[in-house]
Amino acid sequence: MDKLLEVKGLVKNYITESETLHILKEINFRIKYKEKICITGESGSGKSTLLNLIGGLDKATSGSIIFEDMDIANLEEDELTDFRNKKIGFIFQDHYLLEEFTALENVMIPYLMNDFNKTKGMEKASKILTEIGLKKRINHYPSQLSGGEKQRVAIARAFINNPGLILADEPTGNLDEKNAQSVLELLFDITVKENHSLIIVSHSNQILKLAGKNYHLENGKLNLI
Ligand SMILES: Nc1ncnc2c1ncn2[C@@H]1O[C@H](COP(=O)(O)OP(=O)(O)OP(=O)(O)O)[C@@H](O)[C@H]1O
Ligand SMILES: [Mg+2]
Repeated sequence: MDKLLEVKGLVKNYITESETLHILKEINFRIKYKEKICITGESGSGKSTLLNLIGGLDKATSGSIIFEDMDIANLEEDELTDFRNKKIGFIFQDHYLLEEFTALENVMIPYLMNDFNKTKGMEKASKILTEIGLKKRINHYPSQLSGGEKQRVAIARAFINNPGLILADEPTGNLDEKNAQSVLELLFDITVKENHSLIIVSHSNQILKLAGKNYHLENGKLNLI
């Protein structure tokens, strides 16, 4: 099976008190196993909306999102939670680490939601953190980590359940140029090594070069560039 995800006729409207906003108008695209695609588009064009729909964080107005053989739109809430936890790794612009937990614990949490084996979770989390160069920081709390380090922890957390698809929404938007570059390289290296597919929203020229395909979102339509 070659195709991991197929988005068909995806529409998202937001209904506000005064108007209906047509944010996504019949989006169609596919992503294969191991494929990496980048999406650009102006602020407000609907990039986060699209990623949130694919990741099952929000419901589409119409259309379908078929992941492997499942239409995400038809999943019940508990099935959706399971899908997100096992199949999707999210990385956002803000790291969303839990401040009261260490780096190691933050990475372990999605694992424990799946398999409550603390020893195994700890081993896995510490292995990934070591691989991404944070061995000496595993017991640090988020407040004791730099911005780039926090984002690396967020990457480790996204990968711990070995999801098929990584969704990264401007993952380096809050980092300076040098840090952004090394975090992006790390994200790509680990995605390639683990054979994951990646959809990344980024304006980085480097990503445009690394991604297999680049799309631009404009006026509710996704165009290949
Ligand atoms: N819950 C909501 N209700 C109404 N409008 C919304 C809602 N969420 C988002 N929008 C609108 O939908 C549009 C797309 O938002 P989205 O966050 O997807 O943009 P984006 O492309 O990710 O922008 P940015 O680059 O600034 O992150 C925006 O104009 C936003 O105001
Ligand atoms: Mg956004």
